[in-house]
Amino acid sequence: MKHVLITGGCGFIGSNFVRHTLEYFPDYRIVNLDKLTYAGNPGNLTDVEKNSNYRFVKGDIVDAALVQRIFAEEQIDTVIHFAAESHVDRSITGPAEFVQTNIMGTFNLLEAAREAWLANGKTGASKDTCRFLHVSTDEVYGSLGETGAFQETTPYDPRSPYSASKASSDHLVSAYFHTYGLPTLITNCSNNYGPYQFPEKLIPLVINNALQGKALPVYGDGKNVRDWLYVVDHCQAILTVLQKGRIGETYNIGGNSEKQNIEIVNLICDILDEKVGLLADGQNRRSLITYVKDRAGHDRRYAIDATKIRTELGWTPKVNFKDGMRKTVEWYLDHKAWIASVTDGSYREYYEKMYGNR
Ligand code: NAD
Ligand code: TYD
Repeated sequence: MKHVLITGGCGFIGSNFVRHTLEYFPDYRIVNLDKLTYAGNPGNLTDVEKNSNYRFVKGDIVDAALVQRIFAEEQIDTVIHFAAESHVDRSITGPAEFVQTNIMGTFNLLEAAREAWLANGKTGASKDTCRFLHVSTDEVYGSLGETGAFQETTPYDPRSPYSASKASSDHLVSAYFHTYGLPTLITNCSNNYGPYQFPEKLIPLVINNALQGKALPVYGDGKNVRDWLYVVDHCQAILTVLQKGRIGETYNIGGNSEKQNIEIVNLICDILDEKVGLLADGQNRRSLITYVKDRAGHDRRYAIDATKIRTELGWTPKVNFKDGMRKTVEWYLDHKAWIASVTDGSYREYYEKMYGNR
């Protein structure tokens, strides 16, 4: 049995990961530590709550006593660290929380793992079988021009408070491997999409607005490029790295699916027009597209070279972008109550601050 501490398991990727892992790996016990910020929703995991291999703990990764207690109580031998403040726009308007959770929280988890697993470790776990897997982002590498792709050796060049805080946490993880021999792994993944993503990120925001006939805010010229990966493919990549990755290494994860933002917005409009019909005024949903002021310091292009994880560990994405987008739009159509429950008063306040009454 593996005794796994998942942080941030009530968020978008974390909840998909918990569900997937409990379904396919009955020998994993999962303890999910989540603070339940605006982005965390225990309702994302109601279907697994009764699973005897699952336990939810509401709490903050910055709380050292709590994290130490969980390590001891649950004999934790594996950490998969998702918890973070994750939205670039929020990091621009309020960076403090990003420094606190993403940097201090990661530091705190590393310290707890060091204490538990290394020299006379308190849990008695063997360093050879323990793993600390840190889930990070391609945004740490900065912004690309028209060509090229991020490799694991690309120098870090973060440009938003979000990516700077993630870069900082990556460096701490790497330092704990080199300095203390903590058995760490780092993954740097491109943009994810799929079920349970909070509707402040591009894809769910556009689906939600397009369903309501509201304006679809496109930043700048809409030609910024991201590489997109279906969330379940990301979960499988993380499990592959956990089970087969070489300790101390970094693995880039990508979908080999670069798209301009405007292409994505157009695609969502077209899928919705087809599935639910045109707008009440007879127009198609592309008519809702509204170009708005660009994000400050907006990274132009991200692209991932995923050769290492493919050739060393045999992982490749299974879901192609068009199929993944259809599945995603269908999921949001089937889960309108979920959207309503997460877009409560606090989200509306944030939305009005960002976009006014649009
Ligand atoms: P998310 O914002 O949907 O979820 C974050 C979760 O962490 C929430 O459940 C939240 O309640 C929890 N959390 C926040 N602060 C906490 C704290 N101090 N203590 C405990 N829990 C806390 O994020 P996501 O999109 O699921 O991203 C998960 C991880 O993957 C992040 O580390 C992010 O940097 C990384 N990542 C995300 C993407 C993406 O496209 N979403 C791509 C690459 C990497
Ligand atoms: P986002 O989903 O916030 O992810 P990230 O910034 O981490 O890549 O944004 C994806 C892209 O979409 C990014 O280039 C910013 C752009 N974008 C918009 O054009 N409009 C929006 O309302 C949002 C939220 C993002």
